[in-house]
Amino acid sequence: MSWAVTSQQVSARSFSRLWKAALVESRARQPQCWCLRVSQLSANPHAFTSRRPVHQDSMKESSISAGKELHTPVMLKEVLHCLGLKPGQVFLDMTFGAGGHTKAILSAVPDVRVYALDRDPVAFHMMRQLSEEHKSQVTPLLGRFSELRDLLSQRGVGPGSLDAVLLDAGCSSMQFDCPERGFSLSKDGPLDMRMDGNRYPDMPNAADVVNALDQQALASILSTYGEERHAKKIASAIVEARSIYPITRTQQLASIVAGAFSASALYARKDLLQRPAHVATKTFQALRIFVNDELNELYAGLQAAETLLKPGGRLCVLTFHSLEDRVAKRFFQGVDQAVRPCHNIREKIRQRRAQELEEKEDEAVAATRWAYLQNRVMTPLMEEVQDNPRGRSAKLRVACKL
Ligand SMILES: C[S@@+](CC[C@H](N)C(=O)[O-])C[C@H]1O[C@@H](n2cnc3c(N)ncnc32)[C@H](O)[C@@H]1O
Repeated sequence: MSWAVTSQQVSARSFSRLWKAALVESRARQPQCWCLRVSQLSANPHAFTSRRPVHQDSMKESSISAGKELHTPVMLKEVLHCLGLKPGQVFLDMTFGAGGHTKAILSAVPDVRVYALDRDPVAFHMMRQLSEEHKSQVTPLLGRFSELRDLLSQRGVGPGSLDAVLLDAGCSSMQFDCPERGFSLSKDGPLDMRMDGNRYPDMPNAADVVNALDQQALASILSTYGEERHAKKIASAIVEARSIYPITRTQQLASIVAGAFSASALYARKDLLQRPAHVATKTFQALRIFVNDELNELYAGLQAAETLLKPGGRLCVLTFHSLEDRVAKRFFQGVDQAVRPCHNIREKIRQRRAQELEEKEDEAVAATRWAYLQNRVMTPLMEEVQDNPRGRSAKLRVACKL
């Protein structure tokens, strides 16, 4: 099943692939190709074929510069407690990152067997180093959530084999803090944002998206994946700017978005800690989610975890924004992930009411295939947020497979 929020958004997803097909076919990365309306390409929707990963051995991992600061694992104590691992059990870390959670588990639980996954080759490199130190305990896996079942079955790990799984969604600080990766709003770099661009060189990056898609598709991406109220205004500013010069840098995009607002609006938005947030923050979030297909991947990951866990096994999910959290919440509730599109204001109001009701029921509803382990969704303590503001919006859901 796909994370099909509305038909418009589904087409926004396929726009990217269709446009890439034109690039792959023409081999022409030229400005005149960037503004192709994707509708012109729809005659050949299957042309996008170059999604096969580059073999890991052919990659120059050393050429990918990891950020200097490592990632601080979020809600570490709570995660360790909720996973409830016992000596000799089998654990899967679906989002290894810098390995903070896995390392803590290795030191807390004797003889634990760890399968570690990440789509990012930088994280994989770190996993391999850790597996050298813990030879018989850690198995590193490079790939996406959607590839997990195959990766594990190649190693003889089938359905119902795992005691606990952790999915710590989103990006790591190593990704955000490395300007060359193109995720950062504050540091200039190429507008890339792909978590595994080296493995999938033909996968469109954020610059491809902002330079190729038409205004409506861009606005749809910004409003869907960034929940950006000013999506149309920002999309219009992007289209206008790229008609003069292609958008290739993170700071260039941040200035274009800023240019669509008055000076007083630039930092008028506040984050959860009431700190000023740049007006382009939601634009960057939307592009990152779109480029990496994060919500579909998240859903695929949750499904894979369910298959791989033993009955009684535990799944801990850390999310960092409302879109991710909604996917996790609905998954545990067994709710269909596809939401009907909002056609008019009445329907929007109806949906909002249904959502509020769902939120009220959330903690009480016993999912058919899952039992929540705590009554409430857990959030980080204030002291943790002060030490690590990046974790401020974390929500931890833990459930036991029935
Ligand atoms: C928040 S970080 C995890 C940090 C980690 N728990 C730690 O303590 O260092 C999320 C990680 O998940 C990875 N990731 C995101 N989406 C993924 C996917 N679909 N498949 C595999 N890995 C993914 C990212 O590359 C990133 O390294």
